[in-house]
Amino acid sequence: MKESEKVFWDQMKNPTGNPHIAAINSPSKISSKLLLCLIFFVSFTYLIYSLKLLSSSRPCPDLHPFSSHRISNLSALAGISPLSLHLPPPLSNQTELRHVVFGIAASAKLWEQRKDYIKLWFKPEEMRGTVWLDRKVKTDYDSDDLPPIRISGDTSKFAYKNRQGHRSAIRISRIVSETFRLGLKDVRWFVMGDDDTVFVTENLIRVLRKYDHNQLYYIGSLSESHLQNIYFSYSMAYGGGGFAISYPLAKALVRMQDRCIQRYPGLYGSDDRMQACMAELGVPLTKHLGFHQYDVYGNLFGLLAAHPITPFVSIHHLDVVEPIFPNVTRLQALQRLKIPMQVDSAGLMQQSICYHKSNTWTISISWGFAIQIFRGILSPREVEMPARTFLNWYRRADYTAYAFNTRPVSRNPCQKAFVFYLSDAQLNSTTGQTISKYTRHRMPQPTCKWKSPSPASIDIVQVIKKQDPNLWDRSPRRNCCRVMRSREKKTMMVEVGICREGEIIEVK
Ligand SMILES: *[C@@H]1O[C@H](CO)[C@@H](O)[C@H](O)[C@H]1NC(C)=O
Ligand SMILES: *[C@@H]1O[C@H](CO)[C@@H](O)[C@H](O)[C@H]1NC(C)=O
Ligand SMILES: *[C@@H]1O[C@H](CO)[C@@H](O)[C@H](O)[C@H]1NC(C)=O
Ligand SMILES: *[C@@H]1O[C@H](CO)[C@@H](O)[C@H](O)[C@H]1NC(C)=O
Repeated sequence: MKESEKVFWDQMKNPTGNPHIAAINSPSKISSKLLLCLIFFVSFTYLIYSLKLLSSSRPCPDLHPFSSHRISNLSALAGISPLSLHLPPPLSNQTELRHVVFGIAASAKLWEQRKDYIKLWFKPEEMRGTVWLDRKVKTDYDSDDLPPIRISGDTSKFAYKNRQGHRSAIRISRIVSETFRLGLKDVRWFVMGDDDTVFVTENLIRVLRKYDHNQLYYIGSLSESHLQNIYFSYSMAYGGGGFAISYPLAKALVRMQDRCIQRYPGLYGSDDRMQACMAELGVPLTKHLGFHQYDVYGNLFGLLAAHPITPFVSIHHLDVVEPIFPNVTRLQALQRLKIPMQVDSAGLMQQSICYHKSNTWTISISWGFAIQIFRGILSPREVEMPARTFLNWYRRADYTAYAFNTRPVSRNPCQKAFVFYLSDAQLNSTTGQTISKYTRHRMPQPTCKWKSPSPASIDIVQVIKKQDPNLWDRSPRRNCCRVMRSREKKTMMVEVGICREGEIIEVK
């Protein structure tokens, strides 16, 4: 093997080319040399292949300006009581929202559009946090609805040697340290997010309560894209989905982060720099499926309609994907999601599956978002797989592109789902019952020759569900659903709740 190749091989093992980490010995025997060359050849081919894919399809978010959006007063629909009432009262010394400090990575260039996403979830009177920008922006009438803005420290002394990325990655990676150095009191968790991340803060607290904030924790989730995870890391929290760092870990990080960042000038982004430092600290990623990077294009429907059984914590890449409800702007769509959040945040996007026996329909409910009715009986193991309504980050729509199982939108034209989207949700505070309404999205349906009744006869589905703020204090289990008798022909009534003794998902 030529000297230049060996250097390259070293660099592949260690993208920074930093000798104190990559210490591989040159094999002396010819056979092992041959083997090494073979490995090198295969890896090199692979690397070129993935680099080619990457460079030809770097994400380029199309930034639709939010033209002519009128945010309707949806809270008036729901008869909502204040948010904090729905989280169970803290047990002795349990983590609360006031123990969390948010660090939001933003850029001056996109601030005018992106700040609307932050306003959706950030409540300055209940939460602490800072938006970190690269330079000053005009402060506006709405600055009271937003976290305070700070300008990140100068990073020009740090080396940045990645050809594809941008050196703002260094600035963003240091947000944890900069937020820590503000010296806020009584902080247990630092939570990072982007300016296009929307958090469901009650669910974030539900997740953080499971972990001891006095220990070293790095909590977050991966990308949906298998290639993205290979290229970056399967051990890295993707920043857009948000991640949490416990106070003692932040403290340990602050002591070494600037030195650590200098050791990895070749890395692409901020998240991989963070993960490199975590690896030096020896702290692994605690993976939590509810943080959503959503590295996909197109329609998130398949993912949101078959959410894993875990609290829904965040949603990201809002400018990249289509609005989550049809025929409204992205902001209006997210506004609508606030209704179920305020009625029963724990249950948001939780899937239940049941059957309408006499019509032989399969019903899948994603509570607070949408309902699908399929002709015929589909098994739970199929319905709990996300349908590929979305496209991969690397523009390949096939099943090999994801880090989880997916299914085609329909295997048979008759089994294309009839979709109903959330239109209203209410809470009866006397009984603790929620009633959510889902209205059929009228779309041309492929012709179907089956004789069985068509779900087109249903206009509205009403779901009755008891509010369940303690849902995530129990072991994870899917709620059961039961089709109820309805007086109105065009309305279907379904009850959702804890499965009864012996109840399973089957045709009864
Ligand atoms: C929205 O509705 C609430 C409750 O009905 C009401 O108090 C508030 O004034 C309304 N806001 C706007 C902007 O219409
Ligand atoms: C509550 O937690 C804080 C931080 O971990 C600790 O300093 C304090 O002593 C605890 N208080 C009680 C009553 O347990
Ligand atoms: C979409 O919205 C417009 C304006 O609000 C309305 O006129 C139209 O009927 C809607 N289309 C559908 C398919 O709901
Ligand atoms: C709440 O439920 C109770 C008992 O079913 C009923 O009497 C009451 O009218 C309901 N309240 C509302 C606002 O629907």
